[in-house]
Order: sequence, then structure tokens, then C-alpha cells
Amino acid sequence: MREKLESMRELAESEIKLAKTGEELRQLQVKYLGKKGELTAILRGMGGLPPHERPVVGELANRIRDNLATLIDGKERELKEEARRRLFAENKVDVTLPGRPVVLGHLHPLTVVMEEIADIFLGLGFNIAEGPEVETDYYNFEALNMPKEHPAREMQDSFYIRPDILLRTHTSPVQARVMEKTAPQVPVRIIAPGKVYRRDDDATHSPMFHQVEGLVIDREISLSDLKGTLLLFTQQMFGPEQQVRLRPSFFPFTEPSAEVDMSCVICRGSGCRVCKESGWIEILGAGMVHPNVLSMSGYDPEDYRGYAFGMGVERIAMLKYGIDDLRLFFANDIRMLRQFC
Ligand code: PHE
Repeated sequence: MREKLESMRELAESEIKLAKTGEELRQLQVKYLGKKGELTAILRGMGGLPPHERPVVGELANRIRDNLATLIDGKERELKEEARRRLFAENKVDVTLPGRPVVLGHLHPLTVVMEEIADIFLGLGFNIAEGPEVETDYYNFEALNMPKEHPAREMQDSFYIRPDILLRTHTSPVQARVMEKTAPQVPVRIIAPGKVYRRDDDATHSPMFHQVEGLVIDREISLSDLKGTLLLFTQQMFGPEQQVRLRPSFFPFTEPSAEVDMSCVICRGSGCRVCKESGWIEILGAGMVHPNVLSMSGYDPEDYRGYAFGMGVERIAMLKYGIDDLRLFFANDIRMLRQFC
């Protein structure tokens, strides 16, 4: 059996040395080392050997297999190098041709808008905070003054992992998480950008979307600070002639609460289809942090107050770029995405 192996090796080695093309090499590889190759066939016959000879022959066979594989690799490299040299010699390679352009990717339009939003608030002295997307019922609802049977929960149905663990429905839980960590220090000035989830799906709602939360806590802070900050934000994002207005609204975690509108970016306030002839477009929800929320997270509402806001990133991006269907952001159609290089 040993002789059989050795003679097979000799033959294989000389055939490999004589191979002239990559194709020939591959055929040799199959012939000797493949599943139905000669080496495998010889190894199959090992059962007929006396037991004490099997390991010796096995070891020899393994060595031969490794050697042949190395030989084939080496020969392949040699053939490639030869082919390259031949091409050069024949002058078929024009080294003065320009290189092939490398295709560069770019950021998703939503990422671009989120970074723009973050830049504006960083410039105003805010820091960036983060929280988990898989959130507990406590932070998503309870700590925000929405106890178990609160009707406001109905507008934020979510995807539940367990009865007390869900995909967060807004970035507001980051408010409570940050306050717990910082209390009773002030000032707190953070924004929290990220993904949120709701059981919604149509042209203006996606089950996953993005928000940027804002939170400021201090001893003296008022609704006018909130309005001034948001005015600055919209003017930097959409142009210096932008105006904002606050409309009374309700959120369980702010009191008073407001929906914030900015002048319509399409008609600049004169009235059009996008703003439904009102001249205003809603961009976010906001308000003064509710005393219950302050105290649950460690700030005494007698001494501290704060404001909070939450904006939808898709909505801002749609207004900025004139996109009319939110689903376009997530369809991954390269013809759409390429327009944002
Ligand atoms: N979390 C609210 C929402 O998703 C928005 C909001 C944030 C409102 C902060 C007030 C203060 O609808």
C-alpha cells in the first residue's frame, strides 16, 4: 500500500509540474485529491491493512495530500505570473489607462438629517444621550406619568417582547434615564436621537421611525426658553425667515404641553396643499416637564423645572427634501438614495 501511495505521488507530482493551464491544474486536483480522487480511493482500502500499519500509512497519506495541495497552489501562482508576464511582453497592457473608479457609498438621507439636527443642538450647548431601543414598560410609560391603564398609551401601541418589555414607542424614556443619573445636578441639556417603533403602517407612518428628543433641566427655565431654542433650531435648519408657534396640546409627561408648528417651507406661510392652506406645519411635540416626572426621576419640582421636546426625523427630512412618501426612506431604492450623495 505504501508503494501504491508513493507511485501515485510520483505520477501526480510530474503531472502537476507539466500542467500548462489553470484548467489542467484543477482537473489534476480533482483527479488526485477530490472526493472521488485516487488518494481517497487508496485510503478507502486501508481497512484491509493490519491495525498497526494503519496509522503509519494514514500519516503518509496525509503528508502526501498536503504536499500535493501545496504543489498545486505554487504551480497556480506560477502560471498566473507567467500569464501576466506574457501579456506585458506582448504589450497588451496599457499602463497609461486611467484606473477604474472606486464606487463610494454615502450616508442615508435620514442619517444626514439626524447629524444636521445634532450639530445645531451641539452648537447650542446640548450633549448627546442614548437609551435602549428595547425598553421597559417603566421607562417607556410609568416614569413618564403614564400608569398602566392610562388612555394615552393607546396612541402608542408597540411590539411587546414580554408584557413589561417592549420596543420603545418614543425617545422620551431617555429623559427619565438621564434624569435618574444626573439628579440633582443642573443644568441638564441633552438631545437623544434614535429609532422608535409603533404599530402603524401607511404613507405617513412607518412601524420604525426616528425621533430626536430634547431635555433641559435647570432652576430657572421657562416656556420662552423652549420657544427661543426651537425658533433658533428651525431657522438654522430651514432658513432665517422661519417662524414658530405653539398650540396648546396634551402629553401626560409635560404640563403645559404644546404642538409646535413652523412656517410652511413650501409656500412660506401663504397657504398651499402641503400645509392645508394654513401656512403652518407641525414639526414636534413639547412642553414643560411634568412635576410628577421630575420627582419620579429624582428632581424636586419645587426647586427645579425643565422643558422637553420630541421631533420626528422623517418628517423634517421630508420637508427639507420635498419627499411626499415616508416609505421611500426604507424601500432602499438606489435611484432615490443616490439623489442624496
Ligand atoms: N414623546 C412624544 C411623542 O412621541 C413627543 C414629546 C416629547 C412631547 C417630549 C413632549 C415632550 O409623541
